Amino acid sequence: MGEKYEKMKAIRDEVVALEGALADYRKQNNYHAVLGEGSHDAAIMFIGEAPGQNEAKTGRPFCGAAGRILDELLASIGVPRKDVYITNIVKDRPPGNRDPLPSEIELYAPYLDRQIEILKPKCIATLGRFSMEYIMRKFGLSFELEAISRAHGKLYEADVPWGKLKIAPQYHPAAAIYNQSLLETLKKDFQILKSI
Ligand code: URA
Repeated sequence: MGEKYEKMKAIRDEVVALEGALADYRKQNNYHAVLGEGSHDAAIMFIGEAPGQNEAKTGRPFCGAAGRILDELLASIGVPRKDVYITNIVKDRPPGNRDPLPSEIELYAPYLDRQIEILKPKCIATLGRFSMEYIMRKFGLSFELEAISRAHGKLYEADVPWGKLKIAPQYHPAAAIYNQSLLETLKKDFQILKSI
């Protein structure tokens, strides 16, 4: 199936075999780990926070209410969902959709790091503040880090082993579920991804 596929599968197998808080919670509820989906040749990688209940039930990222918003945003820039790669920092659902703990981000981030290394995207669009903070720090942009209310819609650039990486922080689509004006902001901010 190809080298990228094999490497992604190895990551999946390792996450599925994890033990500890969120992995135990997954097993107790017959949930799935949510590794990510999309094209392994994607130019743009979307990184959310953690799976919600729908995602944990199906094993697919962004397939519930937040996913419908993400689909609408992708459609608004004419990008088919299958052409991008969509994942989260944390691969197992936190109980009650609470924010991920720093220890959970620390545990799951190395798997995300490996996914980024496999995909070598041109652009990472972070969805929400957790992935924005993680990605900006990871790529040496801590000094540019500001609140998501200021950073959303901007485009940052980092030097990476495979060239230049653009980082496009976005509000989390879930925030726009009951907030039409935030949805408009997201649509406007997504325009920046068209050039990529
Ligand atoms: N919210 C996220 O951050 N990720 C998902 O996959 C679904 C909802």
